[in-house]
Amino acid sequence: MRPSAIKIVVVTAATLFCGLVAKSAYADDDPDYAAMIEGDGKDFTFLVCSDCHAMQHVLQKRYSRRGWQDAIKRMTEDFGMAELESDERRLIIDYLNLNYGTAAGR
Ligand code: HEC
Repeated sequence: MRPSAIKIVVVTAATLFCGLVAKSAYADDDPDYAAMIEGDGKDFTFLVCSDCHAMQHVLQKRYSRRGWQDAIKRMTEDFGMAELESDERRLIIDYLNLNYGTAAGR
């Protein structure tokens, strides 16, 4: 299992254990999650990036790969987002660049 997958399992288990069904991280009926394009890294991107603001805030942007890297840097440096491991950062940047990049054509 990839580290990100392990994290998702742990978070899901913790959520269930605490009985916090109100804001379950992976509710398929969450419109914010449902609006996201399917692809590798979707779950983890949702988990990390929907913590402080709606995903729409992110999805409405079209940044280059470099632009997404900078955006994540702003979240960490300006807004106190927890530092990501490099493989976690790469997973999110790959997902956003592929589906919401300047070349995504959507
Ligand atoms: C710790 C809280 C927090 C987390 C976690 C977070 N953000 Fe943000 N984000 C903010 C705040 C605060 C703003 C600015 C206020 C606003 O525009 O509502 C913002 C704004 C944005 C914007 C619009 C403005 C800009 O700088 O381009 C984008 C895009 C964005 N975030 C992307 C992300 C992505 C991608 C992630 C996940 C990797 C993420 N955010 C996670 C706090 C956070």
